[in-house]
Amino acid sequence: MFRIENASKRYGHKEGEVVALAPTTLEIGRGEFVAVVGPSGSGKTTLLSMLGGMLAPTSGKVWLDGQSLYDGTVAERAWSRRDGDVFKRARRLDWGDSLDVE
Ligand SMILES: Nc1ncnc2c1ncn2[C@@H]1O[C@H](COP(=O)(O)OP(=O)(O)OP(=O)(O)O)[C@@H](O)[C@H]1O
Ligand SMILES: [Mg+2]
Repeated sequence: MFRIENASKRYGHKEGEVVALAPTTLEIGRGEFVAVVGPSGSGKTTLLSMLGGMLAPTSGKVWLDGQSLYDGTVAERAWSRRDGDVFKRARRLDWGDSLDVE
């Protein structure tokens, strides 16, 4: 199951800071079907990228089946992806198509 706890994402810009995702806590159980909906710019892609192991949160934690996804260094995470671990596990949830629904 996925669990994110107080996960947020902020980007620095010349004009200041953009909050891509305000601190968010949620759990998605195995077999649960979840639709992420919201207006453009509300953080859907940001959230799904975090769950997919592709985007480290600025703050907070992301777990997949009890394993914290962003504890290691970038190199360690790249290695984990090379193993296909996080990616395959995320794909096995069959979210491939819904991830791209904009
Ligand atoms: N790499 C980035 N650098 C700077 N700002 C970003 C970056 N990615 C996203 N943002 C900003 O973060 C906010 C959330 O973006 P995100 O792409 O997650 O929204 P979205 O809900 O997927 O939007 P859409 O429906 O248009 O796909 C937006 O204000 C966006 O401009
Ligand atoms: Mg998007």
